[in-house]
Formats: sequence, structure tokens, C-alpha cells
Amino acid sequence: MNTILLIGASGMLGSHFKSYLNDSQYNLLTPTHKALNITNKTIVHNYFQQHKPIIIINCAAYTNVEHAENDYQSAHKINHLGAKHIANACAIYNALYIHISTDYVFDGAKYTLSLPSVNPYNEAEQTNPINQYGLSKLKGEQAIQQSGCSFIIARTSWLYSMHHVNFLTKIQKKAQNNEPIRIVNDQFGTPNSCNFVVEHILELLEKLPNYNIKEIIHITSSNSCSWYDFAKKILPNYSKISDCSTSDFKTKAVRPLYSAMDNTKLSSYLCRNIISWEHDLENTTSKKMNTDVIEA
Ligand SMILES: NC(=O)c1ccc[n+]([C@@H]2O[C@H](COP(=O)([O-])OP(=O)(O)OC[C@H]3O[C@@H](n4cnc5c(N)ncnc54)[C@H](OP(=O)(O)O)[C@@H]3O)[C@@H](O)[C@H]2O)c1
Repeated sequence: MNTILLIGASGMLGSHFKSYLNDSQYNLLTPTHKALNITNKTIVHNYFQQHKPIIIINCAAYTNVEHAENDYQSAHKINHLGAKHIANACAIYNALYIHISTDYVFDGAKYTLSLPSVNPYNEAEQTNPINQYGLSKLKGEQAIQQSGCSFIIARTSWLYSMHHVNFLTKIQKKAQNNEPIRIVNDQFGTPNSCNFVVEHILELLEKLPNYNIKEIIHITSSNSCSWYDFAKKILPNYSKISDCSTSDFKTKAVRPLYSAMDNTKLSSYLCRNIISWEHDLENTTSKKMNTDVIEA
């Protein structure tokens, strides 16, 4: 039985991987942050030596985009050096490294007012992060590519789920409390459910003829929208929702105004079309409703 090491299993995406992999054909290892701190090279190497995983899925990261602006050393330690330590260990122990990365490696400069004509970023396009989080994640990607290990750098975007604190659960909570909600209408990208990301990465893994791969692959649903469009789709009947522009909010970190990613490569690996973000959202929210019915 192949051993998968899942790092960051307590996080939003990691916990979804864990629930899918618990009942799979793999032997699953899910060490806590305390047991496997990826910023410590010796601990990472010792862990590999002891457990000899064949596949590593790394969901561990410094993910607070705002805090990363001031706390950039911590962000770089986890997102850059952490990824590098894992990649070097994968190279030594001949393991496949599946690393989760982000749309924030792009600057969004292709944003124009004629949005329908903008093409989503493909894997070969120039990266140019505009905040510390994006920079730390890009350096992590580069360290993996330089390590010599087999890897899939799985870039995804705008993650949400029906659990954990994320955009969807935050605005649902506000609506439940009858609070007014203002959402930016000029940042465009693609929302992806954690279920979507996990299912597509695991399907990709099953389709690989061998683990000798070195690819960046965008794991994203099709189509794009603004955060405001996304919010309206989540809460179609909520009246206290209004749009505003990015300049109405003071934030430390600059965000790309456009970061939608192209999924043609994913589609060709899986030999099928990839669903839209709208379809993904419907799947995610209806699954939760089904669970509610069963639980009631
Ligand atoms: N959230 C998004 O919208 C989004 C969008 C695009 C890409 N991504 C990427 O997707 C991945 C998962 O994101 P997420 O939102 O699910 O993250 P998350 O909920 O913030 O979880 C991060 C995980 O990393 C662990 N961790 C942090 N530092 C660690 C260290 N030094 N050693 C070991 N584990 C450590 C945390 O453990 P503790 O909690 O125990 O510290 C936690 O399990 C990340 O790579 C992120 O960059 C996220």
C-alpha cells in the first residue's frame, strides 16, 4: 500500500484531503504542525527517513495575506523554506511532491475594463507577485522546481468550503445576522470549493502513468467572476448586499485585480471538460443541504 504524507491536514483544504483519503487505497499519514514543522530541515528529513512516503501532499502554508505584509519573514519561512525542505527530501527519497500554490503569483496586470476579452492565465505565463504572500509562494514554487524532485505544483484560487472560516461561511453568517454586506466588484478570479480541488488532484493522481512528472497545473473550475458576483450567487435573495470598489477598503496587501487561471492543461490530463465555478458552488451547497436533511 502506497503511503501518502498529508501536511497541513488541520487546515481548510488539508482537512478535505484527509476526509477523502481516510477511506482510500493509500496508507495516510497526517502529522500535526507540532510533529512535523516544515520550517525545520532536520525534522523534515528525519520524518522522511522514518516513514518513507511515496506521495506528499502539502497543504501547509502561511495563508494570511494581510499579515504577511508585516510578518513577511514568517511567510517566507513557511511558504518558501518549508516548500524547499519538503522538495529536497522528496528528491532524496524519490517521492512525488504535490504542492498547493496560488493565483496570487500573478500580478493581474492584464486586467482591463473590457474584461470579457481577457484570457485566463495559463501555466507558462509570466509570474509577478504583488504582495508578500504571493512572493513567498512563488519562491516556494521555484525552490521545488530547482530541487530535482518529481512534482505537481497545483495552483488554485479563492478557496471556500461549507466549513472553516472562508468567504462563503463569513457572508452566510452576516446574512443570518441580517447585517449589511459590501463586496468589491473590481477584483476578478475564480472561486473553487475545497471538494473540487481535492477531487481533481486525486483524479489526476490516478491518471498518472507513473510519478515521474514535473508540472505546474492550474486546478481551477471554468469561468471567472468578481467577489461581488460570487457573493450574489451565494446569497441570491439577500437584499442588504451592495458592491463597492477595491479603493473603498484600506488593506495592507495589494491584490491582483484579475487572477483567473486557465484549466486547459487540467482538462487534457483528465480527458474531459472542467465544470464552471457556478456548477461547483451548486454542488457544494446542495451537498451541505443534503447532509442537513439527513442530520435533521
Ligand atoms: N485559502 C485560499 O483562498 C487559497 C487560495 C489559493 C491557494 N491556497 C493555498 O492552498 C493551501 C491550503 O490553504 P488553506 O486556506 O487550507 O490553509 P489554512 O487553512 O490556513 O491551513 C494551513 C495549514 O498549514 C499548517 N501549518 C502552518 N505552518 C506550518 C508549519 N510550519 N509546519 C507544518 N504545518 C504548518 C497549519 O497548521 P496549524 O493550524 O496547526 O498551525 C494548517 O494546518 C495553501 O498552500 C494556500 O497557499 C489557498
